[in-house]
Amino acid sequence: MFRTLTFTLTMIKTLFFILGTGFLLTTLSILSISEAAVIAVDYGTNWFKVGLVKPGIPLDIVLNSDSKRKTPSVITIRGEERIYGTDAVNLGARFPFNTYFSLKQIIGRLADDKYVQAYQSIFPNKIIPDPLRGTILFQHNETTTFSIEELLAMQLSYARELAEATAHESIKDVVITVPPYYNQFERQAILDAANIAGLHVLSLINDETAVGLNYAITHFSSFTEEPQYHIFYDMGAGSTKASLISFKTVEMKDVGRFNKTVINMDVISIGYDKTLGGQEIDIRLRSYLAEQFDKTYEGKLKKSIFKSPRAMTRLLKEANRVKQILSANTETVASLESLHEERDFRLTITRSELEAMIVDLVKRVNGPIQDVLNNAKMTLANVNSCVLVGGGVRVPVIQSKIKEIVGEDKIAQNVNGDEAAVLGAAFRGAGLSRQFKVKEIKIKDIASYPIKVDYESELKESEDGSMKNKIFRTILFDEYTSVGTRKIMSFKRTSDFNFSINYGNLNENILDDFGPTDIATAKVTGLSDIVKEHNDNGIEQPKVKVTLQLSDSGIVSVIDAIATIEHQTISDKIKTFFGVNNKSDEALKEVPFSDEESTPSDNASQSIPGENNTQTNDTEQIQKKTESIPLNLEVEYVGIKPMGINEKDAAIRRLRAMDETDHRRRAREEARNNLESFVYNMQDFLSDQIVIKVSTDKQRKELETKSSETSEWLYGEGEDASIESLRTRLHDLRSLEKPIVYRRDEHTRRPEAVDTIQSAINNTREFVEKIKANTTGERYHTDEELDKLLNVCNKAEKWLDEKIIEQDKIEPHVDPVLTTADIERMLREIEREFIIVATKKPPKKKVTPPVTNDSENTNNVNNTDSDPKSTTTHVEETPAKHDEL
Ligand SMILES: *[C@@H]1O[C@H](CO)[C@@H](O)[C@H](O)[C@H]1NC(C)=O
Ligand SMILES: *[C@@H]1O[C@H](CO)[C@@H](O)[C@H](O)[C@H]1NC(C)=O
Ligand SMILES: *[C@@H]1O[C@H](CO)[C@@H](O)[C@H](O)[C@H]1NC(C)=O
Ligand SMILES: *[C@@H]1O[C@H](CO)[C@@H](O)[C@H](O)[C@H]1NC(C)=O
Ligand SMILES: *[C@@H]1O[C@H](CO)[C@@H](O)[C@H](O)[C@H]1NC(C)=O
Ligand SMILES: *[C@@H]1O[C@H](CO)[C@@H](O)[C@H](O)[C@H]1NC(C)=O
Ligand SMILES: *[C@@H]1O[C@H](CO)[C@@H](O)[C@H](O)[C@H]1NC(C)=O
Ligand SMILES: *[C@@H]1O[C@H](CO)[C@@H](O)[C@H](O)[C@H]1NC(C)=O
Repeated sequence: MFRTLTFTLTMIKTLFFILGTGFLLTTLSILSISEAAVIAVDYGTNWFKVGLVKPGIPLDIVLNSDSKRKTPSVITIRGEERIYGTDAVNLGARFPFNTYFSLKQIIGRLADDKYVQAYQSIFPNKIIPDPLRGTILFQHNETTTFSIEELLAMQLSYARELAEATAHESIKDVVITVPPYYNQFERQAILDAANIAGLHVLSLINDETAVGLNYAITHFSSFTEEPQYHIFYDMGAGSTKASLISFKTVEMKDVGRFNKTVINMDVISIGYDKTLGGQEIDIRLRSYLAEQFDKTYEGKLKKSIFKSPRAMTRLLKEANRVKQILSANTETVASLESLHEERDFRLTITRSELEAMIVDLVKRVNGPIQDVLNNAKMTLANVNSCVLVGGGVRVPVIQSKIKEIVGEDKIAQNVNGDEAAVLGAAFRGAGLSRQFKVKEIKIKDIASYPIKVDYESELKESEDGSMKNKIFRTILFDEYTSVGTRKIMSFKRTSDFNFSINYGNLNENILDDFGPTDIATAKVTGLSDIVKEHNDNGIEQPKVKVTLQLSDSGIVSVIDAIATIEHQTISDKIKTFFGVNNKSDEALKEVPFSDEESTPSDNASQSIPGENNTQTNDTEQIQKKTESIPLNLEVEYVGIKPMGINEKDAAIRRLRAMDETDHRRRAREEARNNLESFVYNMQDFLSDQIVIKVSTDKQRKELETKSSETSEWLYGEGEDASIESLRTRLHDLRSLEKPIVYRRDEHTRRPEAVDTIQSAINNTREFVEKIKANTTGERYHTDEELDKLLNVCNKAEKWLDEKIIEQDKIEPHVDPVLTTADIERMLREIEREFIIVATKKPPKKKVTPPVTNDSENTNNVNNTDSDPKSTTTHVEETPAKHDEL
C-alpha cells in the first residue's frame, strides 16, 4: 500500500513535468502498473531521436554520448568495431565504403528500384540484390555483406543502449515513427530490423500523426466540441509530408455518474513529396561545389573530383554545413583542406546563389499542401493553422514560400518542430504499453493506400454451356480506412479457393515509384474435404468468413478463415466430427461479399462489419443450426517478402556476436584507460606532502619504478595487451599503492575522528549530569542505567587516551595503531547505550498534566534545551539506527 502510494505521488510529480504548467492534473494521468520503460525512436534520414517514458522521470529525449538530443543516423563498421553517430559521420570521409548514410531512403525497397539508383548516385556503397528476396545487401568488403535490415537493427540497438543508460534498466518496448507514405514492405522492413535488434514494437506510427499527438498533448486546453483543423507540414532531410488532422473534444460516459472528456484526433488526409527534402538541397549544393572545384583546377587534376568517393563524402558534409550557415547569413565560405589530390578548396557562396540552385524545389513546396487539402475536399479557409516541422522548413526561401501559400498568420508558433514527433511517439508508447494509464486521446489514423482483394468465383455453367468463372476485384480497405481495423469477407464456396491481396487503384503518380503492389496470396483449404465428407447430411452451401486485418502499424494480414455450415438438425455424427459447436456468431451480419450473381460494389465492401465480429442481429431467423469450423489458411507474401525466420535468426546471431565483441572491446578500453590514468596520476600522488610523510623513500621508489615501467609497456609492447594483463598490471600497482593510501587517509581523518568521539563523551556525560541534577520532576531513569552509560564513556575515554599515546610513539609511515575504524566502533558503542537511555519513556501516569499528546518525544523531555549541541550530536543519528533497536 505504502509503496503504491508513494509511487503514485512520484507519477503525479512526473505528470507536472510532462504537462508543464498550463495543464490540469486531470487532463492526463500516467499511473504506472509496473515499472517498465518504453522508448520511441524517430528514425530520420539524417538524424534519429530517442524518447523515453519511465515511471519516476519526466517523459523526455534521451541524450546521446555527446550529450546531444539527436544523433546522426549513420554507422561505420571497421573490422570488428561499429561506430555510430557523429563519430561515424567523421569517419565517413575516410571510409566511405564502410560508412552507411541515409538508409531510411531505401529501406524496404528492391535492389533494382529507382530509389536505390538515386541512392547510388549519391553514396558510393556497393549494393547487390539479396539472392532470396531481391532486397538490398551492402557489399561491405570482399567477404562480408550486410542486409539493410541488419544495419538498421544495429542503429536501433544503439538507440536502445542510449536509452538504457538513462533509464538504468533494460528496455524492450518501442514505438517507431515512419513516413505516412511507407507501404507494407517498408513498414515490414522496419519491423524486421527492430525484431533483429531484440525490440518489441508496440506500434509503428506515422510521423505526422506523432507530431499531431504531441500537439494534442501540448494544446489540450484549446480544444472544444467544435473541431479544429491543422496542417502539419514536415520537410525532413529525405522527404516532405503534410497531414491534415482534426481535433475535438467528446464527452463520454465514465464510471458512475461522471462524464469524461476525450480528445478525438482524426487524420483526415495526407500529402507528400517523397524526394523533396533538405538532403536534395545538400546534393545540389555539393554538385555545384564539385563543379567549381574541377573548374578551379582545370587541367591540373588527374581525375575529376566526382570520381573520388572520399572527397565527395567530405563535400556533402560541407554542403550541409554551408546550407545551415546560409539559413542565417547571406554569405559564407566553403572551405576544405586537401580535398582532392592534395588540393585545398575555398569558395565564397551566397544565399542567392544557393536559392538559384533550388528554384524548382521551392516550386514543389506547395504540392503536399494542395494534396492534403484536395484529398480532404477542404480549402485553407477551413484550416486553423499550419504547424511547421523538420529541418527543411528552416531554409529561409522554403519558409517564406510556405508563408506565402498558407498566409503568415496561419503559421503556428511555439511548436518544437524538431522533437514533436519523437515526443508524440513516446506518448503513444506509454498509452500502448499498458504499463501506464494515459489520458484518452482517440487517434484515428488512415491507411494511406487502398488495399484490394482479388479472387475468382467457382466455375459455373454459363449460357453457352461452357464452364466459366468470374474475376472479382474489391477494395477492402480504402486509403481512408482507419488503421487497426478488421474486416470479414464472406464467400459462398463448396471447394478450396484462393485470393490475393494487393495495393489497388493507385494512380500513375503513386505507382511510378511505389515498388511492388502485390502483397500476399492466401489459400484456403480443408473446405472441399468437409463438404465431400458430409454431402448427404443436409448441409447447405457453406459460407466461409475470412478475417483480414490492417494493423495499427499499417500492415495487412489474414487472421483466419472459418467455414459456417448451416443444417436443419444436428446429427450427433456431425457434432462429434466438428467438435466445436455453435458460436454466437451464427447470425453475424452478412454482407453480400459473395461471388454470386452480381459483382459486389465497392460500396458493399465498405459496409462489411469491422473490428467487432460479435455483432448479433438475427437477419436469418430460420430454425437452423450453424457450425463453425476453422479452415486451413496458407498465406504467402509476395512483392517484397518479409525476412524469413532462418534469415532473421542468422542476423540475430551475427549481431549478438558483434555485440559481444563490442562489449569486450569496450571493457578492454576501459581497463586500458584505468591503467593509463593510474600511471598518469602517479607523479601527483608521489609528490603529495602527506604521502611523503606516510611512506618511506623505498616504498615510493618502488612505486615510481613500477609505474614508469608500466607506462613504457603501455605504449610499447602492451599496446595490444589483453584485458587480463591490463587488469593484472593495475592490480599489482594498486597493491603497492594501497597501504600508502590507507596511511594517508588515516593520517588525514584521525584528528577529526578523535575530536568527534571526545565531544560525544563530553556531551553524553553532560546529558547524564542533567538527568541526575533534575530535582523538579520525577526521575524515571535508574542509577544503574545511567551508570552503565557513563561506564561506556569512561571505557572509551581510557582506551582513547592509551591509544593516542601509543600512536604518538610510532612513525607515520608505519600502519597506525589508533585507526578511524576502531574509533568508529567505540562511538557506536556509546551511541547504542545513549539511545537506550534517551528513548526510555516515562511510566504512564493516571493523572497527567495537559501536555500528553507528544509522548513520542518524551525522550528529550529531560533535556533542558539550554544546550542544543548535546542533542544534535547524538539524537540526530537516532533515526538511522532506530531499526536496529
Ligand atoms: C570485412 O568486414 C568485416 C566486418 O567489418 C570484417 O570482420 C572482415 O575482417 C572484413 N574482411 C576483410 C577481408 O577485410
Ligand atoms: C454527460 O454527457 C452527456 C452527453 O454525452 C450530457 O447530456 C450530460 O449532460 C453530461 N453530464 C454532465 C454531468 O456533464
Ligand atoms: C488460385 O486459384 C486459381 C483457380 O481458382 C488457380 O488458377 C491459381 O493458380 C491459384 N493461385 C494460387 C496462387 O494458388
Ligand atoms: C456507391 O454509393 C454511392 C452513393 O452512396 C453511389 O453514388 C455509387 O454509385 C455507388 N457505387 C457503386 C459502385 O455502387
Ligand atoms: C465486441 O462487442 C461486444 C459487445 O458489444 C464486447 O463484449 C466485445 O468485447 C467486443 N469485442 C472486441 C474484440 O472489441
Ligand atoms: C438489430 O436488432 C435490434 C433489436 O433486436 C434492432 O433494434 C436493430 O435495428 C437491428 N439492427 C440491424 C442492423 O438489423
Ligand atoms: C571535553 O571536556 C574536557 C573537559 O571537560 C575538555 O577539556 C575537552 O576540550 C572537551 N572536548 C571536547 C571535544 O569538547
Ligand atoms: C526535570 O524533569 C521533568 C520531568 O521529568 C521535566 O518536566 C523538567 O523539564 C526537567 N527539568 C530539567 C531542568 O531538566
